[in-house]
Amino acid sequence: MDHGEIICNEPLDHGYSRIKFHVPDIAEKAQAGQFVHVRIAALRDRILRRPFSISNVEEDGSLTVIYKVVGDGTTVLSMLPAGTPCDLMGPLGKAYTMPEADEVPIIVAGGYGSAATYLLARRAPTKGVLLLGARTKDDLILTEEFAETGFEVRCSTDDGSFGHKGLVTDLLDDVFEEYKGKKLRFYACGPTPMLMALGPILLEKGYADGELSLDHLMCCGVGACFACVVRIKANNEDGWRYARTCKEGPVFRADAVWYGD
Ligand SMILES: Cc1cc2nc3c(=O)[nH]c(=O)nc-3n(C[C@H](O)[C@H](O)[C@H](O)COP(=O)(O)OP(=O)(O)OC[C@H]3O[C@@H](n4cnc5c(N)ncnc54)[C@H](O)[C@@H]3O)c2cc1C
Ligand code: FES
Repeated sequence: MDHGEIICNEPLDHGYSRIKFHVPDIAEKAQAGQFVHVRIAALRDRILRRPFSISNVEEDGSLTVIYKVVGDGTTVLSMLPAGTPCDLMGPLGKAYTMPEADEVPIIVAGGYGSAATYLLARRAPTKGVLLLGARTKDDLILTEEFAETGFEVRCSTDDGSFGHKGLVTDLLDDVFEEYKGKKLRFYACGPTPMLMALGPILLEKGYADGELSLDHLMCCGVGACFACVVRIKANNEDGWRYARTCKEGPVFRADAVWYGD
């Protein structure tokens, strides 16, 4: 737990906002793929925290989250000015494994997935490709920041308003072809249907060590309440068991995720 204060909180385009907290204890330990659990004191149900991926941390002790206003908590959050005291738990959850120096990282992201994988891109010793999907051009976020890390950014939109018209997974074939013979390492964060489509492709292509961030609704954030469970594979009669995404995840290997009904 770290008490600090909000350094800035500003709207970006299209319903997203960027909030920067001064929380040096968390920022120092944060790894890519982990999240913070934010208590929003001004909220009626203020006991329930809200989880957000750590998008970036800097040496001055700041920690950045990119969030979309979707309900009460994020609406109140979006109204908090710089200087407001904050109460964050973290860093929580299992992080992504950094790519080795001889691996080319390929990140597949949708929704706030580009924000959730930005720290991974920044810290990765080798730079690869970000495949970013969205409904429309306006929903593609952080493309410039990603390009500045050295990653090549390739986009898809459902309506064809920018990049490839179709699903982000459609962009994979070109990557497999172009990087034939290279060691690829896959990472993903985005809507569940995207992850459920991506996982089997990675397994079929031999990338069982690809890592998917399964961001599920959460409550306690520390493994105590079982509100956040997803099915993962298990050596039992059913072939699966429940895993707490806050504790055992949110990052899981592609070959651990259960893709059945
Ligand atoms: C590990 C993790 C990391 C996350 N990182 C980010 C992030 O970097 N940026 C960001 O914008 N959001 C992120 N989220 C989602 C974020 O936690 C929710 O949007 C937020 O809690 C909504 O709070 P609220 O009170 O505004 O909305 P609520 O009133 O609680 O919910 C409003 C709507 O949002 C939906 N919702 C709530 N939580 C989630 C969720 N986890 N996944 C999908 N839909 C949800 C609800 O079903 C409902 O339809 C993350 C969630 C998890 C579990
Ligand atoms: S949110 Fe309580 S166990 Fe995961």
